[in-house]
Amino acid sequence: MDAEEAKKFIIDKVKQSADWRSSCLNMIASENVTSPLLDSVYVSDFYHRYAEGDPFSRYYQGTKYFDEIEKFVKDLARETFNAKEVDVRLISGTVANIAAISMLSKPGDSIISSTIPNGGHLSHNMMGAAGLLQNRINPFPTTEDGYHIDVDETKKLVKNINESAFTRLSMIILGCSLFLFPQPVKELSELGAQEDFKVLYDAAHVLGLVAGGEFQQPLKEGADLMTSSTHKTFFGPQGGLIAFSDKLNDEEIVMFRKNVFPGVSSNHHLHRIPALGIALLEFKKHGKDYAKQTIRNAKALAQGLNEQGFDVEAEDFGFTESHQVAVDVTKQGRGKACAKKLEESNIIVNKNSLPKENLNENSDNPSGLRIGVQELTRRGFKESEMKEVAVLFKKALIDKINVKNDVVDLMKKSKIDFTI
Ligand SMILES: Cc1ncc(COP(=O)(O)O)c(C=O)c1O
Repeated sequence: MDAEEAKKFIIDKVKQSADWRSSCLNMIASENVTSPLLDSVYVSDFYHRYAEGDPFSRYYQGTKYFDEIEKFVKDLARETFNAKEVDVRLISGTVANIAAISMLSKPGDSIISSTIPNGGHLSHNMMGAAGLLQNRINPFPTTEDGYHIDVDETKKLVKNINESAFTRLSMIILGCSLFLFPQPVKELSELGAQEDFKVLYDAAHVLGLVAGGEFQQPLKEGADLMTSSTHKTFFGPQGGLIAFSDKLNDEEIVMFRKNVFPGVSSNHHLHRIPALGIALLEFKKHGKDYAKQTIRNAKALAQGLNEQGFDVEAEDFGFTESHQVAVDVTKQGRGKACAKKLEESNIIVNKNSLPKENLNENSDNPSGLRIGVQELTRRGFKESEMKEVAVLFKKALIDKINVKNDVVDLMKKSKIDFTI
């Protein structure tokens, strides 16, 4: 390829992907789309700049306008998440977890978190941040369905760990990647006060529901810290944040924030910050309706898939209280084949381990699919479209019919029309 061809190659692939994905049912539970207004402030001169430190107290010159923006965005984020302080300098949810886990624990300390099949994220486990930071990781005991933390058994586990001469429990990590139901933040925070451990709530998936006042309010319920991505149910630019509760004193917050800068960041991708401000303003006006509609859509999709003959998880609990639906597709050929088959019909989901799964045996071909409705909700879809989506899943996976044309037609209804 000469330079001209190479340039065209890159430009064409970007356009082809955008065109394709805009005619897909995008149902990866960790994605969303941003508004044209947000996009218009995303690419700017801030893209080229540094602003180490805090607003109006930087190590470099040239930041006077950026300082005003970052201060404004932090104030808005504090109000939105009921937080004493919010740090927006994390460039992703994983980086936020590295910073937060290192704030609350030392190498050799014990933590309790959810396993991957029980919904936990890589960064809560041995192969991710928690393991890298040399924590001893204990899985949360769950009730038999696997989607709920067993509080009584957790109390026993905490007692056992704290009786050990070799380690101490410094923190627990709540929040999940496969995340259908609110978790017992209040009970476990009360336990934390008695047993002297801190509670980190990872809201990466559900931040948009939290911002809309739905699902649960982790900091109000007692969590010490909340980490998050800013681009899943929260339809902001890709990035991360850490929110600090008012249980922490000013000195602790100052000390903890050193793990953000200089700990895990230098330049914090400044161009994200005005875009995050726009997303916060959009949530202020539309967040409640969006969060409610997202949960209604997830329930409608789960019900629809159930009626179409799929084994939808957690039926006894009403399937879901979040943006996600989990489906056991063992009968349809398991997760890997089903996710590929759906992609041929322009339906984009991911294969996913389910709580009953042995991760070691099935990590590449788990029995489940995880389906998220947050992006379709952002595009204006309601319960009636969810019923149509359920029928398309049945045609693609049970009747083995390619439904790409139907999907392209359905996506013509998509519009991202929030204004602020
Ligand atoms: C619970 C949870 N935490 C953290 C992350 C990581 O977020 P990011 O992709 O922003 O690093 C994810 C990613 O999906 C997640 O599910």
